[in-house]
Amino acid sequence: MQIKNICCIGAGYVGGPTMAVIALKCPHINVTVVDANPDKIKAWNGPLDKLPVYEPGLAEVVKEARGRNLFFSDDISGNIEKAEMIFMAVNTPTKTEGEGAGMAADLRYFEACAIDIAKFSKTDKIVIEKSTLPVRTAEKIKEILEENSKGIHFEILSNPEFLAEGTAIQDLFKSDRVLIGGDETQSGQKAVQALVDIYANWIPKEKILTTNVWSSELAKLASNAMLAQRISSINSLSVLCEKTGANIEELSTAIGMDHRIGPHFLKSSVGFGGSCFQKDILNLVYLCKFYGLEDVAEYWHQVVKINDYQKNRFAQKIIDFKLSEKKVLILGWAFKKDTNDTRESAAIYIANSLLKANINVSVYDPMVSEKQIRKDLELLNSNEKNYKLNIKVFENLNNALKENSIVAIVTEWDEFKRINYHLINPNIHIFDGRGIITKEITKYSIGLGND
Ligand code: NAD
Ligand code: UGA
Repeated sequence: MQIKNICCIGAGYVGGPTMAVIALKCPHINVTVVDANPDKIKAWNGPLDKLPVYEPGLAEVVKEARGRNLFFSDDISGNIEKAEMIFMAVNTPTKTEGEGAGMAADLRYFEACAIDIAKFSKTDKIVIEKSTLPVRTAEKIKEILEENSKGIHFEILSNPEFLAEGTAIQDLFKSDRVLIGGDETQSGQKAVQALVDIYANWIPKEKILTTNVWSSELAKLASNAMLAQRISSINSLSVLCEKTGANIEELSTAIGMDHRIGPHFLKSSVGFGGSCFQKDILNLVYLCKFYGLEDVAEYWHQVVKINDYQKNRFAQKIIDFKLSEKKVLILGWAFKKDTNDTRESAAIYIANSLLKANINVSVYDPMVSEKQIRKDLELLNSNEKNYKLNIKVFENLNNALKENSIVAIVTEWDEFKRINYHLINPNIHIFDGRGIITKEITKYSIGLGND
């Protein structure tokens, strides 16, 4: 099947970059990204230095493809109707109310997309799950589509995304693998082939893995759980290092040199952040419970619990540190370097714990706005009546360092590695939460405090 028009619903951190790369690599296909938020579409069509997603290399890709065969539009119905292939890349956050609140994935945005697809389609479509979903979601989506199908045939594929923020463009250019799950029927396999043909424009064939739909859906959740598990494993050992005099960085290097383990995702930190690891593990825990697998659920839940423990532990080290005038500067608000995304960033929880302990808190981040920092803290405290946020946000790092007595490094931005902290402020105490950069600036690992 020759695909000429693709529509992607959801112009966020996944929809924007993935579609920009497909458009770049497939100039013969028109790719249109639509979104329910018209301001986001406006920003995608606006200046390249103000795109809604900050990713190294993204602006260059958008510059080349936008207006050629890459389009951003708020005309959802028209673009659904026109496309032969539709990606669904909307958010699937943790449910906040109803059955499974705090654990299960909230599929309301995803289901709304399916309803739109059924409503506006006039011809057969290949519908692709790009969002991360509970295993067997395709079954539910099929029901929604078929209920409203008017005789149209919808073929559902699962094609989860594995990009990491901050390296999204490189990850999309050189994916470790592209995973495509489809039905074993003739029409299912035809649809799988149509999607394989798109990726084959730049991904080597041996890296395109085809499976059944359920394996593909579950492999995405499991991959994130396994990555996060490695971080919680190393973080759980960082506290033992502090008790025994072992060094967590040396431990990480020694463990990672075993080729069966490997060096990646073994950097001790203040805890993983981001919009996905926690939500996807909780989703996995919920699924295990749903299938009556309590022990398996508890095993994976522990990965999130250790992550919370690590964030609290770091904040508590600063709270317990004895200093007469404690003024803490949090360095980094994004959940990792090279992104403007702050969702579930450890910085939010650490700042909140310090503020609750009546500590004077300031923040500096090279990419995150003061508005976003305030919004994150206000949202976290939205249940509290009369919440008053008392925080200072700096735009100049040198001034920030001069005015504070403690610096807490929570994001591994490169610019934080290049600073001679004591040259700027000889009295500053460094709490380095990122194993990644401890060597350059202090011999201490997580939370050991004053140097
Ligand atoms: P996001 O919040 O950045 O973007 C989602 C977009 O969908 C928003 O712009 C929202 O306005 C839009 N939207 C929601 N409902 C809509 C509807 N009914 N119609 C039209 N637009 C609608 O989310 P994201 O980070 O891009 O994540 C999307 C999915 O991809 C999630 O399931 C996530 O787990 C998964 N994922 C994310 C990443 C990542 O690095 N962020 C990586 C891999 C997978
Ligand atoms: C992660 C996965 O890496 C992607 O493969 C996946 O597609 C994505 O989730 C998703 O499904 O959303 P992302 O969250 O963007 O990507 O970024 P990571 O590089 O995985 O970092 C996540 C968090 O773990 C960050 O807070 C980071 O600082 C932390 N981390 C990472 C550590 O604490 N230690 C490490 O060794 C590595």
